[in-house]
Amino acid sequence: MSKRIWFNEVVTRDGFQNETAFVPTDDKIALINALSACGYAKIEVTSFVSAKAIPMLRDAEEVMGRIRRFSGVEYSVLVPNVRGAERALESSADELNVVMSMSETHNLANLRLPREKSIAALAEVIRMADTPPFHTPVNVSLSTAFGCPMEGTVPQDEVLRWADRCAALGVRGFTVCDTTGMAHPAQVAEMAEAMQRRFPTLQLTMHFHNTRGMGLANVLAAAQAGIVRFDGSLGGLGGCPYAPGASGNICSEDAIHMLESMGYDTGIDLDALIATAQYLPELVGHATPGQLIRAGRITRLHPAPEQDRGGAGRASSTTSGRRADRQRHEVALAQ
Ligand code: COA
Ligand code: ZN
Repeated sequence: MSKRIWFNEVVTRDGFQNETAFVPTDDKIALINALSACGYAKIEVTSFVSAKAIPMLRDAEEVMGRIRRFSGVEYSVLVPNVRGAERALESSADELNVVMSMSETHNLANLRLPREKSIAALAEVIRMADTPPFHTPVNVSLSTAFGCPMEGTVPQDEVLRWADRCAALGVRGFTVCDTTGMAHPAQVAEMAEAMQRRFPTLQLTMHFHNTRGMGLANVLAAAQAGIVRFDGSLGGLGGCPYAPGASGNICSEDAIHMLESMGYDTGIDLDALIATAQYLPELVGHATPGQLIRAGRITRLHPAPEQDRGGAGRASSTTSGRRADRQRHEVALAQ
């Protein structure tokens, strides 16, 4: 039996927060509805952050209010503080994704809070999310968990120490985030094993950016170490505006295509996903970094090149070409 992998699509949050030109609300809603139809387990719809900080997501309430909610898809939202949690709960989010950095410097840059204060805010958010009529699970995104663009490598013990404190407050799970693509596969495998050992009953998700081309290698390292939940961003858009040098997330369709080709079951309708990814460049006004919309799936075949007259195929004409090259080379050497 193939192994099940659950995907969380983050393009309309992580993807769009790094775009400069505003994507109209109607277009965001249409995109989320199309993504829901592709078979995602979860969609991180938007962020309840300050509209001054991220103008792109100023329409969070309207988007949450107008998307179609498909059964079987969870609609999560990013929450930076208590104010964000209030807004998210009013919008009937299925999950609050509270963000907190593992590096003090990035937490201050991103949330303007020391990590201690983020922990205090998390305790308050969990209390609110569990106060009737709400019974909303809280996930914590551990940003810069593999490295910080300002502090450098973040020790794994530091991540486990903060994760322990979050777990003690009653979180549903963790997303371990490589915010600026600093993780390498060996580090990812170690982190995956350590997190699973430490939190065997919690949902563990991995969130990678392809900033240095290691994104899909990191997905594979995590999957082979037993991680079954991943964040991905359609087209490979994404990045944190408060992390110097941040660029796109792993591209959802590329990652899903890789895992499906290897026999994993992602539950995603890949043709529908590719069709959705194909209209993303028009939506954001520029080409997207994903590979699959250019190359197509590995099952996409091309017609063979025209045969030479006389029946010589490409291979034999290449061989005869090579032979001629060698003869020319030998003649040149003899002269
Ligand atoms: N939703 C809406 N408005 C918010 C808010 C929230 N979650 N949190 C703060 N605000 C507003 C306040 O109402 C205040 O508005 P005003 O100037 O009109 O009075 C203003 O933002 C400043 O409030 P303050 O409490 O001083 O917050 P802050 O300046 O310390 O900023 C953050 C708090 C982190 C919420 C804000 O900087 C932010 O949203 N940053 C974006 C972080 C992010 O999305 N990063 C990328 C994803 S990881
Ligand atoms: Zn990210």
